[in-house]
Amino acid sequence: MWLDAPSSLSLSSGEVHVWRVSLEQPLEVQQGFLRTLDADEQTRASRFHFKKHRRRFIAGRGVLRSLLGRYLEVKPEEVRFAYGPYGKPALDAAHHAGALRFNASHSHELAVYAFAQDHDVGIDVEYIKEDFATQDIAERFFSKYEVQVLTALPREEQAAGFFRCWTRKEAYIKAIGSGLSHPLDQFDVTLAPNEPAALLRDHRDPEVATRYAMFNLDLPAGYVGALAVAGSGDRLVQFVAEQPFA
Ligand SMILES: CC(C)(COP(=O)(O)OP(=O)(O)OC[C@H]1O[C@@H](n2cnc3c(N)ncnc32)[C@H](O)[C@@H]1OP(=O)(O)O)[C@@H](O)C(=O)NCCC(=O)NCCS
Repeated sequence: MWLDAPSSLSLSSGEVHVWRVSLEQPLEVQQGFLRTLDADEQTRASRFHFKKHRRRFIAGRGVLRSLLGRYLEVKPEEVRFAYGPYGKPALDAAHHAGALRFNASHSHELAVYAFAQDHDVGIDVEYIKEDFATQDIAERFFSKYEVQVLTALPREEQAAGFFRCWTRKEAYIKAIGSGLSHPLDQFDVTLAPNEPAALLRDHRDPEVATRYAMFNLDLPAGYVGALAVAGSGDRLVQFVAEQPFA
């Protein structure tokens, strides 16, 4: 269940907060976000060819800075990022004390964010494009086990099964921060409609599945999303942000 965003934010150690925010924000909100971005983010924003993509990137980072600022009690523009070897953003430890971890994902008009103390998190949202969910792409990205499960689903279930699989795989590689350097066919996630979200096994490390919890995100029609949390992620709290976001 999604709750209205509270005005003050606190995160206890077993909790994971998940936020869902529209990337389509009014112009004045967008302009405010742009002012909070650092030089690297502004350079990235300027490289987008289409205005729509530029606008959504600015909103995605602007909302991330605003939320981090609220958790850390600093201004959004004071948030400093550091990047892992495969590009995973984290808080720069030289500027921010504490153990707040986060991850972000965006697709089409929606962004989702996960925040936790001490636990690594990975989150993924995808806007469903049925024509993308082909056997060819499944065979290219999914494990043998996942392709088998997907192929056995009734035809009308296949696109949803494909995107459950895709987002769960992305959430896991984003939690570990490896990006696509982790071979996608070397781990298996659930994808059948009657199975709870889970990482079943990672062939490179048989113990790892017991160390990650996985959750479905409850999203507006047309979107599928997943969250992976190192540890049990005991209490998942989901917020839908106010509109417009400020
Ligand atoms: C970059 C990647 C981590 C996710 O990319 P994506 O799904 O295209 O985009 P998302 O919107 O979900 O995530 C992007 C965000 O993830 C974060 N991110 C970037 N690198 C990351 C990494 N190595 N680990 C975790 N998070 C990362 C950033 O916050 C980024 O936001 P930004 O664009 O504002 O910088 C990576 O997995 C990738 O390139 N995926 C390509 C898609 C693919 O082939 N998937 C196969 C699935 S079976």
